[in-house]
Amino acid sequence: MFIKVPKGTQDVLPENISKWYYIEGIIKEILNKYGYKEIRTPYFEYTDLFVRGIGESTDIVTKEMFTFPDRKGRSLTLRPEGTAPVVRAYLENRMDRISKVVKLFYLGPMFRCEKPQAGRFRQFNQFGIEIIGTKSSAADVEVILTVLEIYKKLGLKNIETAINSVGCKKCRTKYIQKLKKYLESKKDFLCSECKLRYVKNPLRVLDCKIESCKGIIEDAPIITENLCQECELHFTEVKSYLNGQKIIFHEDPRLVRGLDYYTKTAFEIISGGLGSQNAIGGGGRYDDLVEELGGKSTPAVGFAAGLERMIIAIDQQKVEWPTEKGLDVFVAQVNENNKNTVFRLLQEIRNNGLSADMDYSGGSLKSQMRMANKIGAKYTIIVGEEELSKNMLILRNMQTKEQKEVKIDNLINELS
Ligand code: HAM
Repeated sequence: MFIKVPKGTQDVLPENISKWYYIEGIIKEILNKYGYKEIRTPYFEYTDLFVRGIGESTDIVTKEMFTFPDRKGRSLTLRPEGTAPVVRAYLENRMDRISKVVKLFYLGPMFRCEKPQAGRFRQFNQFGIEIIGTKSSAADVEVILTVLEIYKKLGLKNIETAINSVGCKKCRTKYIQKLKKYLESKKDFLCSECKLRYVKNPLRVLDCKIESCKGIIEDAPIITENLCQECELHFTEVKSYLNGQKIIFHEDPRLVRGLDYYTKTAFEIISGGLGSQNAIGGGGRYDDLVEELGGKSTPAVGFAAGLERMIIAIDQQKVEWPTEKGLDVFVAQVNENNKNTVFRLLQEIRNNGLSADMDYSGGSLKSQMRMANKIGAKYTIIVGEEELSKNMLILRNMQTKEQKEVKIDNLINELS
């Protein structure tokens, strides 16, 4: 019996890899324009980083982490997200010494042991951006503008931006008390999970999709009506910058996000038509995380998006992918008598900056020509005994099907 790919993971096959290169290329191009520098952190970290960073009572930490001991018994976890690792790296490498405001981006696999479904995987890829060291509301908006520009460049339409403010430690604590009191009075009608959530993490109740909870949530106190002056001003500024940039957004006072580190602005980008897993990205401000992970108080804001969901959305909206560049030259041989010449030619073509390949299976000329066609070669060179004796080759233009004899010494000129 074949061993299959683990549940919730997938292979990216060669015929799909160009989609990934294309998306990653656009992401890097735009992030470069906005001044972000790439950072690569390990795929696993000490578990404590995520427990402290994301929050002990979040779904990610309680249910979704791939955690295992190393040989010395230290607990490690495959990274479920990129923000806590980036902050760890920022602190460990004293990046604050390089510049007061640091703009970083990352791209790579994340791991969450969730129940797989369309658009939800156990290993998925995110690109993320983090601006560390500024409390300016303009930075929040820059993050939103950056990601919207990426979606636009990819041709994605039907994109909705939802924003909220989840306040700061001060005003949120007061709001949570109020919310808890309200939920206490309704607790018998909450779903079984929310009965637990409202004690440990009442904000998460606001995010519950179960019908019985929805009605209760509708009448719950609203966080944006309970912000302190500073948080309210920050939120007003964010909205005013967004309006100034003519960005269409809607306020969603129940948007709380699944990670505990958020303060003030929280936002999510939704792609219509993706079904229940329709968030193609989300982020917000996290002004306390750097301090919580051992640094000095440093405000920050960021965002991350799932690449698989972006690909699904592009496919679903029937946006055209750029056509793949085929092979420049296929080298075919009439028989195997001139193997060395064929091999030398192949390398010479490659050394001149063109892509070239041959058939190593020893097939007939006909099957070699079929292969050249299948891989979309622009030209095929046919190496035959008779032509070689005259220092010549046959060059076939695979599109026009025109064929001519060319001098070996002149081959590279003919190809370029
Ligand atoms: P998040 O909302 O947990 O935020 O994840 C961001 C995006 O990753 C989601 O909107 C979704 O597109 C994608 N994603 C999450 N889980 C899965 C999954 N199981 N399968 C496929 N795609 C998934 C964060 O991770 C924060 N670190 C974002 C951030 C950065 N906040 C501040 N800076």
